Amino acid sequence: MTVVVIGAGQAGLSAAYHLRKNGLVAVGEPGWTTADGTFVVLDDAPQAGGAWQHRWPGLTMADAHGIHDLPGMPLVAPDPAEPAAFAVPYYFAQYEEAFDLHVQRPVRVSQVSDLEGSLLVRSHSVASPSEVVEWRARGLINASGTWNKPFWPAYPGRSSFTGRQLHGHDFQLPEDLADGHVVVVGGGTSAVQLTLAISRVTTTTWVTRRPPAWRDVEFTPELGREAVAQVDARTRAGLPPSSIVSVTGLPLTPQNRLGITAGVLVARPMFSRITATGVEWGPDAVDPSSEPGWVDGPSSVEARTLLWCTGFRASLDHLAPLRLRAPGGGIVMDGTQVVADPRIQLVGYGPSASTVGANRAGREAVHNLRTVWSR
Ligand SMILES: Cc1cc2nc3c(=O)[nH]c(=O)nc-3n(C[C@H](O)[C@H](O)[C@H](O)COP(=O)(O)OP(=O)(O)OC[C@H]3O[C@@H](n4cnc5c(N)ncnc54)[C@H](O)[C@@H]3O)c2cc1C
Ligand SMILES: NC(=O)c1ccc[n+]([C@@H]2O[C@H](COP(=O)([O-])OP(=O)(O)OC[C@H]3O[C@@H](n4cnc5c(N)ncnc54)[C@H](OP(=O)(O)O)[C@@H]3O)[C@@H](O)[C@H]2O)c1
Repeated sequence: MTVVVIGAGQAGLSAAYHLRKNGLVAVGEPGWTTADGTFVVLDDAPQAGGAWQHRWPGLTMADAHGIHDLPGMPLVAPDPAEPAAFAVPYYFAQYEEAFDLHVQRPVRVSQVSDLEGSLLVRSHSVASPSEVVEWRARGLINASGTWNKPFWPAYPGRSSFTGRQLHGHDFQLPEDLADGHVVVVGGGTSAVQLTLAISRVTTTTWVTRRPPAWRDVEFTPELGREAVAQVDARTRAGLPPSSIVSVTGLPLTPQNRLGITAGVLVARPMFSRITATGVEWGPDAVDPSSEPGWVDGPSSVEARTLLWCTGFRASLDHLAPLRLRAPGGGIVMDGTQVVADPRIQLVGYGPSASTVGANRAGREAVHNLRTVWSR
């Protein structure tokens, strides 16, 4: 075994494409048992599509921010009204077949450790966890994304709330929340899109810990490069990536402008505490007039639902035995390469956490592994 790829989203598929292009043979394809170099892609999702298969049904291809083509096969112009949760998994499934990638699923990697200089990757079938398979690898391309790690912040009183609490990760239909007022927490794209959608069926209050970062200019390639450079600087310093919106800002699309004018996309500062039936702003809450961009409101709001659109963390628990975390809480990176262990490449992590970044990262990771092996 040469390389194990963990995850078959945009990043893992791009990496698998480049491994194949570099002459490695997929485990399971004819001749793999006698090949010089092999790779296997392990993915714990039920079907092709990475995190896209889990997007809420209302997220159409027109709503998506632009989904980059995988290398070697374009995404043929889909119907803009089609849910992304169907269109993208269909494309990924065709891609896996076209390049004969032999993705093994649903198979979860539970841990990666070092064994006498090899990487020992322990995996099991999701359907029957006692079916354990161990792989010995010379290289690991980790492409496990963030979807499996929704972030729920702690706030005073959270456990005393008697209504419904859910994370944007678990949101399905606005109608599911139509039975009362909804407080949406978080200042990213998920919060904006879900607040707009939910406001069509019920009343909402939007709260953020920084004033909404509206951006009135187009997100040009130059701005994209600046955003990537900011995240790259953090991961090189061993700091965990910050929220996505903190580097991209929020686009002032015509839809979002309408939401602002209608008084829906106007945010209040974070509440001080959660009560049994809602949220409260006490004397310790941030004064909304302290910074432009926030609005004021009553000192308490009754709510049926608290919707946490508070982002995600990198899904890397299975790498814990390798002790890659730096004192800053992140992993010290050089591009896709883990500085402390160059056999390990993280793709779709930090600066490559977008479909375009994940694509490029797949190529870089394979190039880096070849360089390490040639030393
Ligand atoms: C709601 C939403 C909308 C988005 N829209 C856009 C957009 O329009 N354009 C854009 O560029 N980006 C968008 N993004 C960001 C985008 O999803 C990611 O940058 C990119 O798709 C992530 O690809 P990935 O391959 O890194 O991860 P994923 O697509 O999450 O793939 C990771 C795969 O690894 C699997 N996995 C995880 N852990 C394990 C394990 N231990 N063992 C085995 N398998 C494992 C997962 O099941 C998954 O299949 C969006 C994100 C969200 C949350
Ligand atoms: N249509 C689409 O294509 C679409 C739709 C939805 C999402 N997305 C994408 O999905 C990705 C994730 O977006 P996201 O909005 O889920 O996450 P995100 O951009 O990372 O934003 C997370 C938000 O949660 C806030 N937050 C974090 N901890 C908090 C705390 N303790 N208290 C209060 N607020 C807290 C963050 O605040 P700080 O900034 O202050 O940390 C930030 O505003 C992005 O790439 C986004 O573009 C795309």
